[in-house]
Amino acid sequence: MIVAIDGPAASGKSTVARALAERLGAHYLDTGAMYRAIAHAALERGIDLDDGGALTDLATASEITFEHAGGSALPTAVMLDGVDVTSAIRTPAVDGAVSAVASDPGVRHALVEHQRAHASDADIIVVEGRDIGSVVFPDAAVKVFLTASAEERARRRHMEMAGRGRTVESQIVLEELERRDTADSSREASPLTAAPDAIPLDTTGLDIPEVVERIAVLVEERSA
Ligand code: DC
Repeated sequence: MIVAIDGPAASGKSTVARALAERLGAHYLDTGAMYRAIAHAALERGIDLDDGGALTDLATASEITFEHAGGSALPTAVMLDGVDVTSAIRTPAVDGAVSAVASDPGVRHALVEHQRAHASDADIIVVEGRDIGSVVFPDAAVKVFLTASAEERARRRHMEMAGRGRTVESQIVLEELERRDTADSSREASPLTAAPDAIPLDTTGLDIPEVVERIAVLVEERSA
């Protein structure tokens, strides 16, 4: 069974999807981490972000895997060609480059293949991203589209960055989120959009356990 969790940046997807996977004893796939890994590799190699051919070659040749240290059910590290890039993919440079990389149809094609292969090994998997319910798994048993106000999302991202020792002005965080939302929603290839049969869930003012509980109920209903 596939549980698709889509939504814009900092809508709570990762926190909710990870907690849900834990609760269900499900596998978990963070597809944003895959686009970030390719953006990181492109920056490291000095690839021009407008060079679709080079980006596609890079995505096709790259091996992205997830490590589960100590037998952890949830992934503990993102590996790119055997190198741990868990922290390297969460930098402002990658934040700035990832939308351009993710808008390339060749990159998307290569990564969607990986994502489908990943899910084929799992009984139940929670997959988070932007196009999971609309493109990657249009037949997913449960599709949820998480939203939250831009201000709430900026507040969350600001706290998350502070937790990693990065102090960035709230206004700048908000502008960067809005820039990325616009880029992700307006691109031609698989734009950020709710699948027509996705259940919208506004997480502004809800706490994580509440959101997880609501989705877990949907999963139970579908698997009954
Ligand atoms: O969820 P995130 O912020 O880690 O995602 C990073 C970027 O990757 C985001 O700007 C949009 C893109 N992305 C995408 O285009 N499709 C996905 N399925 C997941 C992420």
